[in-house]
Amino acid sequence: MITALDHIAIAVPDLQASIKRFMDDFGIALDGTEDVEAALTSTAFFSMEGTSIELVHPLDGQGPIAKYLEKKGGGIHHICFRSDDIDGDVERLKAKGYQFLSDAPKQGAHNSRVIFIHPKSCDGVLIEINQPAADH
Ligand code: CO
Repeated sequence: MITALDHIAIAVPDLQASIKRFMDDFGIALDGTEDVEAALTSTAFFSMEGTSIELVHPLDGQGPIAKYLEKKGGGIHHICFRSDDIDGDVERLKAKGYQFLSDAPKQGAHNSRVIFIHPKSCDGVLIEINQPAADH
């Protein structure tokens, strides 16, 4: 079941500059940074009440975020729903005809399990479903 808006992800061309903006200009505390090898991303998380903002940047200049930045220069990349049963949600949505970017959930930040719904199944919005490590 989908239970919360886990985070909104923004693709950024300069991770350090964006971290500095969120900390110094917006005054939001940095929770931490993490390189997610499986997704080829460097990430930074900022908690806000009930949800968080994820800054995403290509790891070693590669992967889907690199392509996104090449095309768009930066922007809102995806929104993420938290799930307490990612396998059940994927199965239910596949049965309704939703397409996903991978066959099965992969490892995401904070050792969560994540999968992305294809934007063409959701009015052009890339939606991640994420099950936190404690729930699986
Ligand atoms: Co995300």
